[in-house]
Amino acid sequence: MSSSSQNKIQSADELNQHYSAEDPWEYESNPHDAVRIQRFKRLIAGRRFRRALDIGCGNGFLTREIPAAEVMGIDLSTAAIEIARSKLPDPRFQFDSLSVFDAHSRTLGQFDLVVITGVLYPQYIGGAYRLIDANLRSLLCPGGRLIHCHIFEWLRYTPTLNLLSRETYQYRDYTHVLEERVAE
Ligand SMILES: C[S@@+](CC[C@H](N)C(=O)[O-])C[C@H]1O[C@@H](n2cnc3c(N)ncnc32)[C@H](O)[C@@H]1O
Repeated sequence: MSSSSQNKIQSADELNQHYSAEDPWEYESNPHDAVRIQRFKRLIAGRRFRRALDIGCGNGFLTREIPAAEVMGIDLSTAAIEIARSKLPDPRFQFDSLSVFDAHSRTLGQFDLVVITGVLYPQYIGGAYRLIDANLRSLLCPGGRLIHCHIFEWLRYTPTLNLLSRETYQYRDYTHVLEERVAE
């Protein structure tokens, strides 16, 4: 990635072009993505959430694994949201086109689980760490959990909520970090 592209935030149009393929990062066929799903499922095994939000849900690859009575997925890409809706027609899942920059309790209410995976990278959020951190905090009800999973080498920001657990493992050519954090 060149330094100029590092500073540029991907637009909704660019993301929509990406989603001309249903599975642009080949999550369904890459064994590393099967492992990250297993790790996520192991972390939340035996738990049931009331209302969950998946920010940057893409085509719903991970969203479908969230054990909650209501699961909302949001993504900046309308194309991604259309794919997610078609793949998960169950009314337990609701999908909306919305940016993480606009994902706040004022627009969405609060959740006992917020999931954000593969989104907190410069190409998506630039340097808007304080805004994202404030948004994530607002979205969680007291005691609510944030689970985030990212390529460690690409992360420039980590949510500041209190850390409950952290694990790392190999993901493709990188290291993945999977963390659970809690709202005070
Ligand atoms: C690498 S994919 C991860 C998809 C999914 N979270 C997963 O882990 O399988 C990143 C996703 O973030 C979405 N995205 C990028 N910028 C965003 C923004 N500002 N707000 C919400 N979603 C965004 C992209 O459209 C894409 O679906």
